[in-house]
Amino acid sequence: MASTDAPYLAISDVRKSYKATVALHGVSLTVGRGAFTVLLGESGCGKSTLLKIIAGLLTADSGAIGLDGTAIDGLPAHRRDIGLVFQNYALFPHLSVAENVRFGLDMRGIRGDAAATRIREALALVKLDGLEARKPAELSGGQQQRVALARAIVIGPRLLLLDEPLSNLDAVLRSSVRVEIRELHQRTGLTTIMVTHDQAEAMTLADRIAVMKDGRILQHDTPERIYEEPAQAFVASFVGSPPAALVRVRRGEGGVLDLGGSAWRPPDAVAAALPRDPAAFTVALRPERLRIVSPDSPGAIRGRIRSIEYLGAERLVYVDIGSERVIVRSAGPVSDEGGEVGVALDGVPPVFDAKTGVRIEAGSGP
Ligand SMILES: Nc1ncnc2c1ncn2[C@@H]1O[C@H](COP(=O)(O)OP(=O)(O)O)[C@@H](O)[C@H]1O
Ligand SMILES: [Mg+2]
Repeated sequence: MASTDAPYLAISDVRKSYKATVALHGVSLTVGRGAFTVLLGESGCGKSTLLKIIAGLLTADSGAIGLDGTAIDGLPAHRRDIGLVFQNYALFPHLSVAENVRFGLDMRGIRGDAAATRIREALALVKLDGLEARKPAELSGGQQQRVALARAIVIGPRLLLLDEPLSNLDAVLRSSVRVEIRELHQRTGLTTIMVTHDQAEAMTLADRIAVMKDGRILQHDTPERIYEEPAQAFVASFVGSPPAALVRVRRGEGGVLDLGGSAWRPPDAVAAALPRDPAAFTVALRPERLRIVSPDSPGAIRGRIRSIEYLGAERLVYVDIGSERVIVRSAGPVSDEGGEVGVALDGVPPVFDAKTGVRIEAGSGP
């Protein structure tokens, strides 16, 4: 379902500390109705804390949360109409599939035929029809996760929150449940927020990704913009597979740059995009935007092949450039490990402030 940009969920300046640990440093985020938003970041960056505050399972120290135009900060969790799925499904082992799904309805006083209809619909949505009488132990991990999804959506939630719902599944199941979650979102149009530390999961599922680090949202954008226009060096180094290498570049004399101790005279288009000030900055080099060329090619960076990973359809070539290292994605064979090569850039890479990591726009500076 298409998302709109009108804020449906509005989180403003939410702060949360656990004793000495600051988990959220004033997080603001708006989510459009029907959008699939992914909170992406390393373990410990505050994703679950933010999700629990939205759900009402934790209280923020300060800040405000509005849902569909109304403040929900004061509402207890069960009155927020939010569906929740955690990584460890938390199913009741002694209850059947149908009884597990019924649980959320009982709490809201929905019983009898109305409940039976809803349970049937929810189980059909996650393709578990026919398994109503099974116990969780008689289901695969992927099916158990779908019961947890059915239990979350059966209440007709205003918001669906998923905390690392795929991380307990093996790789094969993970990709099939990933597709199911995407299809469930398309069928129901439920505004969904999912937490993950897996950038591939985020890129494939999200309409919008919020990249988090150390209790802050660094960038909230479409997957395309997160990849193409990273607002911070960390974002560039967190998305892509393998992700972009961050290399430090220093200005030398006469248009020559120093990259890890190796002299580099960049092509004109790259030179024009580099900031005149400061003298040192960080450049993000994506494996798929680099090519192995002869060491003497104009504009190429000179380096030495450290190792080559053969992946069938392509090779990942690890190239040492002085003290820095980049990865080059190569379709064809390249010279041997230890060989001297040139690394050519396709296009102009994003440039960041070496200290703050903040993006510097092309050709800016005095
Ligand atoms: N109950 C708690 N008590 C103390 N510290 C906590 C608690 N829960 C989380 N933290 C800390 O808060 C930070 C954010 O945690 P969390 O929101 O769980 O991160 P994530 O879900 O991104 O892995 C981490 O440093 C974590 O150790
Ligand atoms: Mg977590």
